[in-house]
Amino acid sequence: MPQAASGTTEPVATVATGLVFVEVARYPAAAASIFRLTPGSREREQRVKLALIGYGALGRNIEAMITEAEPSGQIVYFDDQAAGAQPFHTHDSEEFADFRFFVCLGYKHLNLRKQILDRLVALGRSVPHFMHPSSYVHPSVTIGHGSVIYPGCCIDRNTTIGRGVSLLNGTVIAHDGSVGDACWFGPGVTLSGHVTIGERTFVGSGSAVANDVEIGSGVIIGLATAVTKHLGDNVSAIGNPVRILARPLKLV
Ligand SMILES: CC(C)(COP(=O)(O)OP(=O)(O)OC[C@H]1O[C@@H](n2cnc3c(N)ncnc32)[C@H](O)[C@@H]1OP(=O)(O)O)[C@@H](O)C(=O)NCCC(=O)NCCS
Repeated sequence: MPQAASGTTEPVATVATGLVFVEVARYPAAAASIFRLTPGSREREQRVKLALIGYGALGRNIEAMITEAEPSGQIVYFDDQAAGAQPFHTHDSEEFADFRFFVCLGYKHLNLRKQILDRLVALGRSVPHFMHPSSYVHPSVTIGHGSVIYPGCCIDRNTTIGRGVSLLNGTVIAHDGSVGDACWFGPGVTLSGHVTIGERTFVGSGSAVANDVEIGSGVIIGLATAVTKHLGDNVSAIGNPVRILARPLKLV
C-alpha cells in the first residue's frame, strides 16, 4: 500500500463496499498531530527538540516510533540509570522549556506518570500526544496531553482519551468510550461501546470489556479478562468469567 506523506489527506487505499469504491484517506491529522506543525513551517525546518522522561525499554520504544514519524533535531533523556542522560529530577528545569516532552514511565508507575504530566502541563511545557500513523482515530475523538497510541489501534467516534494514556498495539475502542488519565492498555484490548474507565487503571493484554460497563480508577485487570460487569475503584479483576480478587494485586 502506498504511504501518504505526513499530515496530508492523500488517499492511501481504495476499498470495495459492494456497490461503489470508496477512497479511504489516512486519518489526516495522523503524523501532523504529533507535533501540531504544518508542513514547511519554520518550526519544522528548525526540527523539534524532544525530551524523554525515563529511558528504559519503554523510552527506547517510544523514541523509535516518534523519530520514525518525525525526525528530531535534538533529543534529551532524563533517567538516573541511562548513560549520558540528565538526572531524572531535572526534567522541569527552565533549561529545557522549549522541548517537547514524553513521559516514558511504564504501567508500574501510573501515579508518578500522572503527577509528572500534570506538572509539565501546569508549567506550560509542550506535551503533545503521539498517534502512530497506522492507527485509525475518528476525527471526533479527543486525546489528552502526552497520550501514546501505538500501531494498529482503532478508536471510534465520540471517544475521549485523557492525559498520559498508553494504548498499546491493536487496541480497539468502540464508540462513545471514555478513558481517564494515565490508564494503560496492554496489546489487543477491546472496549465495546459506551465503556467508561477512571484514572490510572491497567487493562491487561487481550482483555475485553462489554458494552456500557463502568470501571473505576486504580483498577488492575489481568490479561485475557472478560469484563462483563461494573468494577469499582482500586479493585483487581482476572479471568473469564471475571473474578474479583479479595486482595488487590500490585503491578510489580
Ligand atoms: C494479573 C497479574 C498482574 C497477576 O500477576 P501476579 O501478581 O504475578 O500474580 P500471579 O501470576 O502469581 O497469579 C496469581 C493467581 O492468579 C491467577 N491469574 C493471574 N492472572 C490471571 C488471569 N488473567 N486469568 C486467570 N487467572 C489469573 C494465577 O493463575 C494465580 O493463581 P494460583 O494462585 O491459583 O496459582 C498478571 O497475571 C497479569 O495479568 N499481568 C498483565 C500482563 C500484561 O497484560 N502485560 C502487558 C503489559 S504491556
